[in-house]
Amino acid sequence: MKLLRIDSSARRNSISRQLTDKFVHTWKLENPAGEVIERDLAKTSLPLITDEWTLAAYSDPAMLTPGQREILAVSDELIEEVLAADVIVIGAPMYNLTVSAPLKAWIDQIVRSGRTVLWGPKGSQGILKGKKVFVLTSRGGSFKPGSPTAQYDHQEPYLRDILAFIGLTDATFIHAENQKPGDLAEPSRLAAFAAIQQAVGATSEASLGQ
Ligand SMILES: Cc1cc2nc3c(=O)[nH]c(=O)nc-3n(C[C@H](O)[C@H](O)[C@H](O)COP(=O)(O)O)c2cc1C
Repeated sequence: MKLLRIDSSARRNSISRQLTDKFVHTWKLENPAGEVIERDLAKTSLPLITDEWTLAAYSDPAMLTPGQREILAVSDELIEEVLAADVIVIGAPMYNLTVSAPLKAWIDQIVRSGRTVLWGPKGSQGILKGKKVFVLTSRGGSFKPGSPTAQYDHQEPYLRDILAFIGLTDATFIHAENQKPGDLAEPSRLAAFAAIQQAVGATSEASLGQ
């Protein structure tokens, strides 16, 4: 079993990192022989999509020049990490109502025609099947479904759609909401920890039953 851990907060002592830490710790207890691959997006400055990148990504792989292969090397490496993983956990701070720029840059590198999504007569088809994804978010405010602020959550709906686009349809979201200073922060963080514990346990029970 392989777990890919993605962190995308700019802050070293961040709440979303505490959540991914908790996930990895619990997962390792359940899967002692499991391997964890770590990709901290605050440590690597991923390239943005350029004209050259799109030309290379949409070219016949057999016709790529050495320069084009070089341009796609980062994307290839990140996609290989995703392909190798059975489980993916993503720590996602909410920045300006959506994902952080490093997480968006990672998504731009892994959503790639011919590698993670195929186009056919019926439209697009995601290639990444059979993987479980856990998205652990931290937000200053609260965006609970049904609340007046729910409409401003452009993080979970966006991530759900783009992950499903490449075939990652089995996605569980756990939110630590209300993380701005105040009485609500700690209970919300503890509730997220408990939800993570339960989610990892349920995953292990499901795999034992297979
Ligand atoms: C640049 C920036 C933008 C933010 N934008 C929002 C926002 O739009 N909505 C919100 O509820 N919280 C927002 N916050 C608060 C963060 O979501 C919150 O501090 C969260 O804990 C960040 O995750 P982290 O602790 O893993 O870094 C923002 C924080 C920063 C630094």
